[in-house]
Amino acid sequence: MERALALLEGGDVVAIPTETVYGLAGDATNGVGVARIFEAKGRPRFNPLIAHVADLAMAERIATFDPLSKRLAEAFWPGPLTLVLALRPGNGIHPLVTAGLDTIALRMPKGFGGELIARLGRPLAAPSANSSGKISATTAQAVAADLGAKIRLVVDGGATPVGLESTIVKVEGDTVRLLRPGGIAAADIEAVIGTKLQRGATAGIEAPGMLASHYAPGASVRLNAQSVAEGEALLAFGGKRVEGWQAAVALRNLSASGDLREAASNLFAYLQELDRSGAATIAVESIPVDGLGEAINDRLFRAAAPRDKLD
Ligand code: TXA
Ligand code: MG
Repeated sequence: MERALALLEGGDVVAIPTETVYGLAGDATNGVGVARIFEAKGRPRFNPLIAHVADLAMAERIATFDPLSKRLAEAFWPGPLTLVLALRPGNGIHPLVTAGLDTIALRMPKGFGGELIARLGRPLAAPSANSSGKISATTAQAVAADLGAKIRLVVDGGATPVGLESTIVKVEGDTVRLLRPGGIAAADIEAVIGTKLQRGATAGIEAPGMLASHYAPGASVRLNAQSVAEGEALLAFGGKRVEGWQAAVALRNLSASGDLREAASNLFAYLQELDRSGAATIAVESIPVDGLGEAINDRLFRAAAPRDKLD
């Protein structure tokens, strides 16, 4: 904690655990700190980042909350929900965080991250702690292997419990739009707002996490596999294996009992492990799309997309 604070005070970046994935954090009010995030990730473009806050008071100094956003914050914070809100003028957030937009994505993380922000007294900008286009890191070891040569500190908080990035929503009048499926299931949000989430394209910016080939492993990824071909690795789900599974060069089961929460928490680590097996292709069994299955399928779809548009 003390070393993380000292680095952040000095405008440097630190990799920290959150309940979703590891974040590469910098002081959101310090342009040098925010620029170092992009530099370490090797992001080709300045995409807007999520600013993480310690409490609702800090959030309300940065952005304006409509009543529906307030209700969502009260229901899900701290936790894996990110709200896109209208930025308050004179909020102190460096424009590199928002890529010059007049809106900002805010989230209140659980655990170490929340404590760190409270101690710093300033919000932290933090995208997932991985090189651009790679799989998000869910362990400190994965962060160190990827970014260890570029950053000075990785805070090890063990494996992240949720394993997927936060769900991002934006309130538009009396409707709420799902910008990125994530660690909170859409149905849980719908239960709080009492209406269905809007889905699909929205006017304005395209979320970088929405680029097709985000989350790409080195191996190619084949979805909804009905069988395993020679030389393939298999990412399985549930109790029943596809045909030819015995021939897989490596096998990981996201959840033998078919639990989508367990599957989400294993997703990125297992993709990385199967990638390291050296197989040219990872075959993926069908995974249901209900609950957290929506976010899991979203990430797998991006992992399987052509690699010509890397974020
Ligand atoms: O779980 C998470 O959300 C992780 C952990 C570290 O907190 N963070 C994360 O941040 O995934 P990042 O920077 O990789 O994701 C930022 C996402 C992008 O999809 C971006 O487009 C969207 O937030 N975003 C940021 N500002 C936005 C805005 N003003 N309007 C719409 N989307 C925005
Ligand atoms: Mg990311």
